[in-house]
Amino acid sequence: MVRQHVNPLSRFFQQPLQLPPPPNLFANAALPLHLDIGCARGRFLLALAEQQPQRNHLGVEIRRALVSAAEADRQQRQLTNLHYLFCNANVSLEGWLAELPSGLLELVSIQFPDPWFKKKHHKRRVLQPALLLAIAAALAPGKQLFVQSDVLAVIEPMLAVIEASGCFEPSGAVQAGDDAAWLSQNPLPLPTERETYVLEQGLPVYRRLYRRNGNPPPALQSLEERLQATDNPANTPPSLA
Ligand SMILES: C[S@@+](CC[C@H](N)C(=O)[O-])C[C@H]1O[C@@H](n2cnc3c(N)ncnc32)[C@H](O)[C@@H]1O
Repeated sequence: MVRQHVNPLSRFFQQPLQLPPPPNLFANAALPLHLDIGCARGRFLLALAEQQPQRNHLGVEIRRALVSAAEADRQQRQLTNLHYLFCNANVSLEGWLAELPSGLLELVSIQFPDPWFKKKHHKRRVLQPALLLAIAAALAPGKQLFVQSDVLAVIEPMLAVIEASGCFEPSGAVQAGDDAAWLSQNPLPLPTERETYVLEQGLPVYRRLYRRNGNPPPALQSLEERLQATDNPANTPPSLA
């Protein structure tokens, strides 16, 4: 049985894993890379990799049994532009992203991440400031970050951390001054499993596509202070007031 949720902060999931570099994952490691964080059973990426042979696709997932099943599908289809890796994205991705050849990473997607509703569990959410900074450092100007969720209370803090970094501009239909806060269409050609379920239930989906700008990523402490200032304007440090 595959557990519904695992606690990414538990000691077991805090062990860093050495993730293999692109030449060990793909037949042609020079292809532009799409990284999907929290890919679950991986069926979305499996179909996307078949549809987009001009890109490599890497799915990372914290539930090992899902990764094993997804890898078995990939091997059965003999897809060499796709790979799945078991890891805690918050522990093992930062070093891997830092080692990528410059300009290789074309798109990062984080789709329908686990909500962890209780405030005391917010630290379990996947898009923590340190991961966002690692993504920002690995994406060259013009490359993209795509986020979507059916839960406003989950996507809003994600947008807050992305925008507080100063490293991303909204892309797609959402521009400063537009009325629409969310992309009505998914910029990716296929829905994820969760997205299909949510749409079948007639529930809303909140989506944003961002493009990396040329700003250097801030220090982690500075980003955390900016976020704290947004959450709690009364406690704004004098340096940010
Ligand atoms: C709600 S599911 C969504 C799956 C898929 N993206 C979709 O839209 O159908 C979120 C996935 O993220 C995975 N996940 C949560 N925290 C993670 C972490 N720190 N590192 C890697 N994967 C994580 C969960 O195990 C789960 O499979």
